[in-house]
Amino acid sequence: MAQQEDIFKKVVSHCKEYGFVFPSSEIYDGLGAVYDYGQNGVELKNNIKQYWWQYMVLLHENIVGLDSAIFMHPTIWKASGHVDAFNDPLIDNRDSKKRYRADVLIEEQIAKYEDKIEKEVAKAKKRFGDSFDEAQYRTTSARVLEEQAKRDNLHKRYQEVMNAEGGINLEGMKQIILDEEIVCPLSGTRNWTDVRQFNLMFKTEMGAAAEGASTIYLRPETAQGIFVNYLNVQKTGRMKVPFGIAQIGKAFRNEIVARQFIFRMREFEQMEMQFFVKPGTELQWFDEWKKRRMAWHQALGFGAENYRFHDHDKLAHYANAATDVEFKLPFGFKEVEGIHSRTDFDLSQHAKFSGKKIEYFDPEDNTSYTPYVIETSIGVDRMFLSIMCHSYCEEKLEDGQTRTVLRLPAALAPVKLAVFPLTKKDGLPEKAREIIDSLKFHFNCKYEEKDQIGKRYRRQDAIGTPFCVTVDNQTLEDNTVTLRYRDTMKQERVNISDLRGIIEDQVTITSLLKNLK
Ligand code: GAP
Repeated sequence: MAQQEDIFKKVVSHCKEYGFVFPSSEIYDGLGAVYDYGQNGVELKNNIKQYWWQYMVLLHENIVGLDSAIFMHPTIWKASGHVDAFNDPLIDNRDSKKRYRADVLIEEQIAKYEDKIEKEVAKAKKRFGDSFDEAQYRTTSARVLEEQAKRDNLHKRYQEVMNAEGGINLEGMKQIILDEEIVCPLSGTRNWTDVRQFNLMFKTEMGAAAEGASTIYLRPETAQGIFVNYLNVQKTGRMKVPFGIAQIGKAFRNEIVARQFIFRMREFEQMEMQFFVKPGTELQWFDEWKKRRMAWHQALGFGAENYRFHDHDKLAHYANAATDVEFKLPFGFKEVEGIHSRTDFDLSQHAKFSGKKIEYFDPEDNTSYTPYVIETSIGVDRMFLSIMCHSYCEEKLEDGQTRTVLRLPAALAPVKLAVFPLTKKDGLPEKAREIIDSLKFHFNCKYEEKDQIGKRYRRQDAIGTPFCVTVDNQTLEDNTVTLRYRDTMKQERVNISDLRGIIEDQVTITSLLKNLK
């Protein structure tokens, strides 16, 4: 675990050192849980978005795009339920004055019991060696059974308070925190306030106060922009159910427990798709979208073992199925994407609150209905973090040195090709620039002449550049260069005229899409 935490810390500082992610407003000491993407980060982020967009919109004939405004009519958030129910249960410790999410404190306590069980099992495995029967040990060891009973009892109480009639039982939550003797990690005391609900939406004012300014919200998800444009898109695009609308854009949540770098931010980006289907077919489509989205993730090549589904047993009242795609991060399997079967809840609510009829006339059987919706919703920043964590690698070389290399999928790398003149004289810089000028229309190239070649290779390894080319005196004679591959560090002499053919196929988003069967 400590080793994993170390890796995470290294990834965070690597992001800063190599121009991927900076704390926002850093010269003013930063702004909590808000980040800026630097010169390399913005390229990686754009590539992730392109990979998603091209898969969803270009490869699916029945999915179209949208770019709706961040500001929307305030009644939208009343209709969607966000004004009344987009809350986190909070609790304060009176001694440290620190605020926590009560549900997170309880979930961490559950995780502690689970951790203890796993440690017991691991110890026994070591003690008994090959003859160890894990299943039997889990059902007979007194210590394991004791911890399991504590965990199950807590889990049951937690489910009960979360699913109480009329919303979360806040008093019940506080009682669990007291009964479990959960202490504040800072003060070490159990001096807790009551648990209160806190709405996560940011508010602002539109129009000057004198003209009667109205309170509006910064959207906490992009999805509502899709729902309220359902009729516009369906009619003008003459879309036939089943069809989807995809959108990428910023979302804002006043997260209280904002930590783990860009995993939980107050300003972040989502890539969402609402797929409108005929009622009764939604669960079939839900399964289909689970398959398609998992295939999209796995086509990046990080290994199937790093992904899993986490099906929800607790469903929102309007949903009839929901799952998370979880990715293995240094701090455990975590949600990167949600796939939800949301029935006709959102469209019906908007019909009710706007007074407009929002239906689909199905020409196949002459019926009208409110379509059901399957939603796929993924965070760009979480995807970015997952990719960075899995690409970051410290490699021991034969000469005893360590190289830090970012093994990014080539199609996502910020720079695809770096071109180095061996020296700054004899016309080598000019030749190097000539190569860049002929290739820069096809993929992102970078020119570098500072320091010796070895150092230049290391700098490119650290930002994940899959190809480097060195121009030397022989280049001037025969138009060949040394091409060096990031992952194998293999070098070969190739003709300048062959470079585009060798590189382009491996660095386009299309090369990733081709991995999708
Ligand atoms: N429209 C559905 C929706 O917004 P969600 O599970 O709340 O569902 C979807 O969010 C995805 O957005 C998450 O899986 C996560 O990747 C990302 N996300 C949510 N809150 C986030 C935050 N505070 N910071 C970064 N990403 C976040």
